[in-house]
Amino acid sequence: MSTRQTAPPPEQPGRLHPARLLVLGANGPTGRQVVRQALARGHRVQALTRHPETFPVRHDRLDVVAGDATAAGVLDAAVEASDAVVCTIGTAFTRRPVRVYSATADLLVQAMLRHRRRRLVTVTSAGLTPSHPPGGSTGSAPAGSGVGALVRTARHALDHDRVRDAFRAVMRHHVGRTVYDDMAAMEAVVRAGDLDWTIVRPPGLTDAPGRGYVAEETEVEGALCAREDLAAMLLDQLEDDRFVRKVAAVATPGLRVGALHMLWHEVLKR
Ligand SMILES: NC(=O)c1ccc[n+]([C@@H]2O[C@H](COP(=O)([O-])OP(=O)(O)OC[C@H]3O[C@@H](n4cnc5c(N)ncnc54)[C@H](OP(=O)(O)O)[C@@H]3O)[C@@H](O)[C@H]2O)c1
Repeated sequence: MSTRQTAPPPEQPGRLHPARLLVLGANGPTGRQVVRQALARGHRVQALTRHPETFPVRHDRLDVVAGDATAAGVLDAAVEASDAVVCTIGTAFTRRPVRVYSATADLLVQAMLRHRRRRLVTVTSAGLTPSHPPGGSTGSAPAGSGVGALVRTARHALDHDRVRDAFRAVMRHHVGRTVYDDMAAMEAVVRAGDLDWTIVRPPGLTDAPGRGYVAEETEVEGALCAREDLAAMLLDQLEDDRFVRKVAAVATPGLRVGALHMLWHEVLKR
């Protein structure tokens, strides 16, 4: 177990290296990547999970903290013992009302203000705004015939802005409405807090190996993001103030995963 320290938080956003990092959602597929990469970068990590018995990482700079982020009092000591917070908490799509994002944000922002901790990097999702990325593709469909051409054409269609925007609109307003509504509520809470926050909006996440990310304010081209790349981007924010008090869109360029694979792994199986 690590020793909790009470050093005052740094004055400047960014340049937090090495940091005492609190990771919320640490036991999710992105959270695990964040924890592993943070340890590899030399940070000291507190990993919050409701299921510590299933958490796979052990390290002498890692504290696994058991608890529900939406329960009063759980975050307080963990926030006090940290310099920065990365939040990857998430839940599966459901028709029921969702509160985990906004309830976590409420308690987290309060705890950070109470303990004068400033740096918060949190994940929501692409699809919270209309999507018209700069330089979006509008080219013609791939040539050819047969099954190969059909697959190429389908992939091309899925890359197309309008198809992607229509897909996102269905996810935002129908399939995932309660989740997205609560993510929007989380964003409002985070923006209202007097913190050095960064809201990171990835598109569909995959467990494909990372290949380097692109990040821009608000919108970026790319329909997918490897969780490995998302984790790297989240941790990069501790050493970079480019997106402080901003919304950053992130994606892995050129990453392709079959639509059925995504539907099964990221929507139906969860
Ligand atoms: N999947 C996608 O395609 C996609 C697309 C865009 C954005 N996102 C967002 O990206 C982030 C990461 O997604 P992901 O798919 O890697 O992870 P995820 O499957 O959404 O899991 C996140 C983790 O949050 C933890 N959690 C949930 N409720 C909690 C609570 N009340 N207290 C403490 N921990 C709680 C869970 O761990 P425990 O059960 O161990 O506590 C869970 O493993 C999420 O914010 C997600 O909404 C996902």
